[in-house]
Amino acid sequence: MRVFIAGADGYLGWSLTQYLAGRGHTVVGADALLRRLWVSEMGSTSAVPIASIDDRLAAFREHCGYRLRFFTLDLRDHRALCAALAEFQPEAVVHLAECPSAPYSMIDFKHAEFVQANNVSGTLSLLFAMRDHCPEAHLVKLGTMGEYGTPNLDIPEGFFEVEYRGRRDRLPFPRQAGSWYHWSKVFDSHNVSYACQLWGLRATDIMQGVVYGLGTSTDVRLNTRLDFDQAFGTALNRFCCQAVIGQPITAYGDGTQRRGFLSLSDSMQCLGLAIENPAEPGEYRVFNQLREVLSVTELAAVVRSAGDALGLTVDIEQLDNPRLEASSHHYRPDSEHLRDLGFRPSAPIEEEVRDMIRGLLPHRNRIHRYADQLMPTVRWRQSPSVPEETR
Ligand SMILES: NC(=O)c1ccc[n+]([C@@H]2O[C@H](COP(=O)([O-])OP(=O)(O)OC[C@H]3O[C@@H](n4cnc5c(N)ncnc54)[C@H](O)[C@@H]3O)[C@@H](O)[C@H]2O)c1
Repeated sequence: MRVFIAGADGYLGWSLTQYLAGRGHTVVGADALLRRLWVSEMGSTSAVPIASIDDRLAAFREHCGYRLRFFTLDLRDHRALCAALAEFQPEAVVHLAECPSAPYSMIDFKHAEFVQANNVSGTLSLLFAMRDHCPEAHLVKLGTMGEYGTPNLDIPEGFFEVEYRGRRDRLPFPRQAGSWYHWSKVFDSHNVSYACQLWGLRATDIMQGVVYGLGTSTDVRLNTRLDFDQAFGTALNRFCCQAVIGQPITAYGDGTQRRGFLSLSDSMQCLGLAIENPAEPGEYRVFNQLREVLSVTELAAVVRSAGDALGLTVDIEQLDNPRLEASSHHYRPDSEHLRDLGFRPSAPIEEEVRDMIRGLLPHRNRIHRYADQLMPTVRWRQSPSVPEETR
């Protein structure tokens, strides 16, 4: 299949590029290389060394058997995006090209506005470009489980049956996002769904849980990044980096918040299944993509016991929660669609975490140098009495 990956230089994107090439697909990548800049702006770096895009492309050619066509473009550059799609004529388009950080979007107005403009306009640009240049292609769009928030109900896959005043309907399940970033994903979901209805595009909107895990290779040029700073380090990746440098794991709040998680390799397997089993023309379908649900305290305990097994001393420290989120809440999302397509989770989380810590140990000095960036300074509720520009 011809697959266009927007966001191919990112954490998931660089892994997916290699995973799909390994399954015999012809892949083309596009990325504005923004993630590299955002992590530098946060004063941090990837825990594992990553290569420049040119070196990545050279390594891809040597290992994957063909030259990866790569477009350095911003999705909001509509003309450039249209030209790329018109030239490549993809059968599937994977859209990973967004700013994925809730804390980054909560820094101040400038960051909130950037994240929403980047994500919502980029998606809109892609939808119009697909309409005009590859309307038959299947869009696989990355959303997040965070779009649903934490309702006091089980969470279906996108839609549910409701009865109200004696009438029934199948409606989108309510979205209750918890950051400006998460709201950008909600807006995207509505726009993608509307484009399917309006133009007959076909799309799978993936509500993905938090991804953890290393994507390293014997050729370091094929490594995918792994971030640990307060904005771009996801919970488990951050905790493992803390374990490796002997810094206590910083669990936010009382640690009872529950979320869905999956490993990087499971994420690749799920995305592969979604791509290889496309939606029908005009269909907008939603997959909840997660493997297990754990509380923050349970996550920290997994990291502690993996660290113990490797001879590390891992302490856990409760921190005032910088976010505004519910604790001790109900959380039971469905995730049957991908299992019905054949998703079989790989190694259990304990094993993945042990492997991750083992893989990070050679980089402990590198992580140590940026250890300050692990601590949260971005708070969801800044004091309203302080004008933004003076903060
Ligand atoms: N990693 C996770 O745990 C996770 C969980 C749920 C959802 N997601 C979603 O998956 C997607 C990929 O996440 P990731 O962790 O790989 O993030 P990432 O930041 O590593 O990858 C995104 C890539 O897209 C590029 N990009 C961003 N805006 C762009 C634009 N306007 N034009 C062109 N390129 C642009 C960035 O440079 C980056 O390389 C995101 O949409 C994210 O919201 C990720």
